[in-house]
Amino acid sequence: NKKQDLLEKAYQMNDLTKEEIIALLESITPEDRENLFSKALKTKEKYYGDKVYLRGLIEFSNICRQDCLYCGIRASNTKVERYRLTPQDILACCDQGYELGYRTFVLQSGEDLWYTEEILTDLIRQIKNRYDQEIAVTLSIGQRDAEIYRSLFASGADRFLMRHETASEALYERLHPTMRFEERRACLDTLKEIGYQVGAGFMVGLPGQTSADLAEDLLYLKKLHPDMIGIGPFIPHSETPLGTEKGGTVEDTLVMVALARLLIPDSLIPATTALGTLHPLGREMALQAGANVVMPIITPTSVRKKYALYENKICGDDHPEDCRYCIERRIQAVGQKVDLGRGDSWKFIAKG
Ligand code: 5AD
Repeated sequence: NKKQDLLEKAYQMNDLTKEEIIALLESITPEDRENLFSKALKTKEKYYGDKVYLRGLIEFSNICRQDCLYCGIRASNTKVERYRLTPQDILACCDQGYELGYRTFVLQSGEDLWYTEEILTDLIRQIKNRYDQEIAVTLSIGQRDAEIYRSLFASGADRFLMRHETASEALYERLHPTMRFEERRACLDTLKEIGYQVGAGFMVGLPGQTSADLAEDLLYLKKLHPDMIGIGPFIPHSETPLGTEKGGTVEDTLVMVALARLLIPDSLIPATTALGTLHPLGREMALQAGANVVMPIITPTSVRKKYALYENKICGDDHPEDCRYCIERRIQAVGQKVDLGRGDSWKFIAKG
């Protein structure tokens, strides 16, 4: 059987051609999927054992200068109540996260220039010097000048998440009226060159996205070889131009997670909140299809619901401690174990 051979090749060689990926995506059956997921799980176990790394996610501002067609906090959405956490608020979130055992803090926001280079470098320094144990700071703040990326890194930031969103230039430019495809990629190259552990990734089920586009997403990632790969379903938000479009499915997203694990086997792959939003067990299914990271939210409950990139996002009424233990139970329920270490990628560890 041709598809079994392709899956075996992906498993053994960590490689597939564009044509092979497209052929797989276009004819995959439920049995093929189970086969793929079990190969992805085995591959994850080979590199990371049964460990799942946790990151405390702080969504510190929903103010954004960009206008991405899919995103609920796009600049044009006047219905969002905007908020900004002060550096002091953010430090308090970190303290709470540290108490809960997190040793990575992900600082995520819209592209909000109120947080200047000075404010950010000062904040990063304070977080890095605050605790007895070593912690990692991950930034997810979008596009800035290379100089700023450099000074944030110099002040102690360890990692940077910036999804490429889609590897199709035409689709990228349609979805991002305020951004350029080439610039996005240049940012990722710059971040990598500076020395950050970099996270890239994409959405599944974007309007107009083809199997060939998804194959390109995987091949782009293979070439970039980031430390982390975030893959989530597109979920329409009613207050955006894509509000009436169809979204991505759980199955299609899991297939892409599993293929990412096979093709870039040493990467860190989160079981995304968006998957958990589409299906009550979405993140658990991702953990059984090659994912090995979860990013529980530690944003203060008072502002959580305002950080709605998509609708019906889970955990909106929860408190940081709820998410901490809820996630641990879910991880254990699928026979895996929480690891509260920094959770660096193999690629990063091997570099020394
Ligand atoms: N559905 C799913 N994911 C989304 N993101 C933004 N808007 C949506 C949406 N409507 C994703 C983007 C971004 C990440 C932080 O959230 O991929 O990079």
